[in-house]
Amino acid sequence: MKLSQRVLTMPESSIRKLTPLADEAKKAGRRIYHLNIGQPDLPTPKSFFAGINNFREEVLSYCPSPGLPKLLEVFSAYYQHRGIPLTPRELLVTNGGSEALLFSFMAVCDHGDEILVPEPFYTSYSLTASALGIKLCPVPTFVEDGFHLPERGEFVKRITPRTRALLVTNPGNPTGTVYTQEEMKMLAGLVQDFDLFLIADEVYREFVYEGEYKSFLEFPSLWERVLLVDSISKRFSACGARIGSLACKNPKVMRQLYKLAETRLAVAMVEQMGAIALAETPAEYFREANLEYKRRRDVSIAKLQSIPGVYCRRPEGAFYILARLPVVDAEEFAAWLLRDFNLDGASVMLAPANGFYLTPERGRDEVRIAYVLREEDLANAFTILGEGLRVYNSTVASPVVSS
Ligand SMILES: Cc1ncc(COP(=O)(O)O)c(C=O)c1O
Repeated sequence: MKLSQRVLTMPESSIRKLTPLADEAKKAGRRIYHLNIGQPDLPTPKSFFAGINNFREEVLSYCPSPGLPKLLEVFSAYYQHRGIPLTPRELLVTNGGSEALLFSFMAVCDHGDEILVPEPFYTSYSLTASALGIKLCPVPTFVEDGFHLPERGEFVKRITPRTRALLVTNPGNPTGTVYTQEEMKMLAGLVQDFDLFLIADEVYREFVYEGEYKSFLEFPSLWERVLLVDSISKRFSACGARIGSLACKNPKVMRQLYKLAETRLAVAMVEQMGAIALAETPAEYFREANLEYKRRRDVSIAKLQSIPGVYCRRPEGAFYILARLPVVDAEEFAAWLLRDFNLDGASVMLAPANGFYLTPERGRDEVRIAYVLREEDLANAFTILGEGLRVYNSTVASPVVSS
């Protein structure tokens, strides 16, 4: 038997490689602060569970492929409220934002086609693209610029006859960067001039702490070419529900997306019922979540910037910080923290950033930090990180990069 090149050539997640080490450390009785996880820790609104408990049918039947009509209405109302004019017919319920990404890639690219994407980017993009035989073409961004975009020419020079789309995450994972209006206008002009689709992953829309945030669908000139990827995973701290959405105002594109949705028949009924009930979530939920994450961001940045040799800029959104550490190889350091180091019986787990880059060697000295712990735990975790770096660089590591 022979496995497909499709699966054999797919990269492995560099974060997953560290999990056995974290498990070992926990078995040995150590406390591990998880700064590696991209999953919010705030409670899911109770209305979600109430919605599930209200399920009274005797048969758990298939839902319509595009999603429960009521949920499509709820999503549409949410977008209209946010100034994003989407009707239920312009929306599909998906199995998380992950399936929305898969459908977007499948709808706009054939095998061998290319998608431009600012780098670093969310690791699953590489896995999905690789499984579909799509080439991601990274456009580099840098920690010194807060991962804001380079000038238009950097995108233009990477466009080839096979380029089909530009993929952007706003606010960003792993960067936390929120693009300015000027950056968005530059991208809007680019996709129009080169007749590309714009796959806009906006799953962190509700987590913006600074500046003005806009959705790409707020640009009417882009309506025919934007595929909007979304999810309740982060918005409502409901990662396990597996409910997302894909939206497009172009009916020709929508018709093709419906066909893709039919291949998996339907999304889970009960979770859609829960998601419908989330419509009752009061506005304070988002306000409080935002304040909580903003406080955590500020604690994290202050602590990180006080560690000698660590470099990071204050991100404007999401709940991630991409930081450069004074080490040559952040993956080795992250493994050492779990395997060989503890401070009063505790250590931290980091996400090495090389997995968020396609360009070889980029991100080797960087880590992604998710501030999804309570403030006091974050403060402890950064104390451990600072001490870990001091010990590592004075006893273990070879050459140290300084900044
Ligand atoms: C940028 C981005 N897009 C999409 C997803 C997929 O989320 P889900 O499939 O849980 O909706 C994630 C998850 O971490 C993400 O960070």
